[in-house]
Amino acid sequence: MDLQLVLVLLTVDILLSLSEAVSASLNPGDAEGFLEKYGYLHQKDHTHNADKVTSAVRQFQWLSHLPVTGRLDSTTLLKMASPRCGVKDRGSNEAWKRRVNSVFTGQSQQHLRKKRYTRPGGRWYKQHLTYQIVNWPRHLSQGPVRLAVRMAFQLWSNVSGLVFHELNEGQTDIRLAFYEGEHNDGTSNAFDGPGGALAHAFFPCRGEAHFDKAERWTLSSHKGHNLFLVSAHEIGHTLGLEHSPVRHALMSPYYKKLGRSLLLSWDDITAVQQLYGKPSAGAVVQIPSQDLSWAMQDWELSEEPMGDISLPHYCRNTFDAITMDGNGTVLVFRGGLFWTVTSESNRSDPLPLKRRWPQLPFAIEAAAFSPLDGKFYFFNGKHIWRYSGTVLDPGFPKKSSECDMPRHPDCAFFYAPLGHMVVFKGSRYFVLNLETLRSEPYYPRGLADWKGVPRGANGAVTRADGKLYFFREQQYWRFDPRKLRVTGSGQWTKKLAWTGCHRTSSNDVL
Ligand SMILES: *[C@@H]1O[C@H](CO)[C@@H](O)[C@H](O)[C@H]1NC(C)=O
Ligand SMILES: *[C@@H]1O[C@H](CO)[C@@H](O)[C@H](O)[C@H]1NC(C)=O
Ligand SMILES: *[C@@H]1O[C@H](CO)[C@@H](O)[C@H](O)[C@H]1NC(C)=O
Ligand SMILES: [Zn+2]
Ligand SMILES: [Zn+2]
Repeated sequence: MDLQLVLVLLTVDILLSLSEAVSASLNPGDAEGFLEKYGYLHQKDHTHNADKVTSAVRQFQWLSHLPVTGRLDSTTLLKMASPRCGVKDRGSNEAWKRRVNSVFTGQSQQHLRKKRYTRPGGRWYKQHLTYQIVNWPRHLSQGPVRLAVRMAFQLWSNVSGLVFHELNEGQTDIRLAFYEGEHNDGTSNAFDGPGGALAHAFFPCRGEAHFDKAERWTLSSHKGHNLFLVSAHEIGHTLGLEHSPVRHALMSPYYKKLGRSLLLSWDDITAVQQLYGKPSAGAVVQIPSQDLSWAMQDWELSEEPMGDISLPHYCRNTFDAITMDGNGTVLVFRGGLFWTVTSESNRSDPLPLKRRWPQLPFAIEAAAFSPLDGKFYFFNGKHIWRYSGTVLDPGFPKKSSECDMPRHPDCAFFYAPLGHMVVFKGSRYFVLNLETLRSEPYYPRGLADWKGVPRGANGAVTRADGKLYFFREQQYWRFDPRKLRVTGSGQWTKKLAWTGCHRTSSNDVL
């Protein structure tokens, strides 16, 4: 009966919501504001003629690696709404052309540095710079933040003639600070809460980098925004670097997760060396991204936890994924580690992901156990892994696109009323038939079907009573499949003992 109800309700409004698929994007009406904020349109003349807007859209599309159509199509609006750096893109095009020119004509750096054209980015006229962390983000302790920032500066000093020193007090050249909303550098620089503009910085010699305090900053988890990556990018601006149109460049304006490629592209290195020369030691040093991921995890784990020391990491910060196996054991994933919490609330120590599932990447974005086939499914980037116990099934990892599933999903869970796997991504959800490994017809659909469930959930668990718990950061939402809506919500670390984060000792069965 429940199943029928769900199917009927889901079918009734298929037609209603087919058109609302891309609501995670910007409203076309807000696009001009966006183009003004990021320097594609002049803010002064507030009415722009159609030609100017088209040309601005084309420039934006070019820098963002979208098809250059000049139209505000859905991909363009979607891109405009994705997390990025708050610094304007204006000028980055010209700066890039000059860089490319110098690479091809082989002009010496000395010559370039003396050239008379005005560099919008400016530069410091010294190689030794000092910095200071003015205040701190929530949910991360000072030790790991300090290490992350030190590494972010090292990234640049390892490939250039620069040297950095941290000072805890007094005047420094560069200052990093966390602010919320408007913070005394103009309304156009006001922070916008989670997502959107994550941080911004000023070109030399102002030396300020500001981070949106409302973001969920993290170092090792795949959910939230990585503070090391964002500081490394913002530090680039404080040194005089503009945005890069090179897709894999650290100075590209959009937020990217740490991938397999080296963090600094040839374009980042060329840009910083044109301003400050090569490292005095000679060779350029870059460490592999995989090693950076491990290092960040170690910084977090080495730190004395804030608050209740009996609680593991995932209870104080965000986690990447959560699921429950056939025995009612909850599994929580974060970075390269996972924890288990048995149905008797017995919580394990952190275990390396690769020890149980050796072929998985460093971390995963979504995980789900399916009672239908008794298998674990993992999602990360463009791929899906399927395990029988600890053995990877033949044919996996599979490309998500082969299964009609999205890249970088928010979460995945087996949904008993449909008998299929459900995958959330942004404003839509997908339904994966585990037998055919293809999407069910009529999907993806809008998240509005899950009345009350927020966008960007990082995991979901079905409990024995059939209720579904969605998690996002410290909040949970309880969804009742019979009523097809959220019937309760709150802070999961305080209320849901079975997540292993209750402040009672693990021997108390709740
Ligand atoms: C910078 O170089 C040093 C010395 O070679 C190395 O130990 C360090 O890991 C490098 N740091 C980064 C961020 O690449
Ligand atoms: C459930 O527990 C049994 C016995 O401890 C174990 O053999 C089995 O692998 C567990 N099942 C799952 C899905 O973890
Ligand atoms: C909890 O797990 C540990 C190790 O897996 C085991 O030694 C202990 O007996 C368990 N405690 C309870 C109450 O099940
Ligand atoms: Zn930037
Ligand atoms: Zn600011």
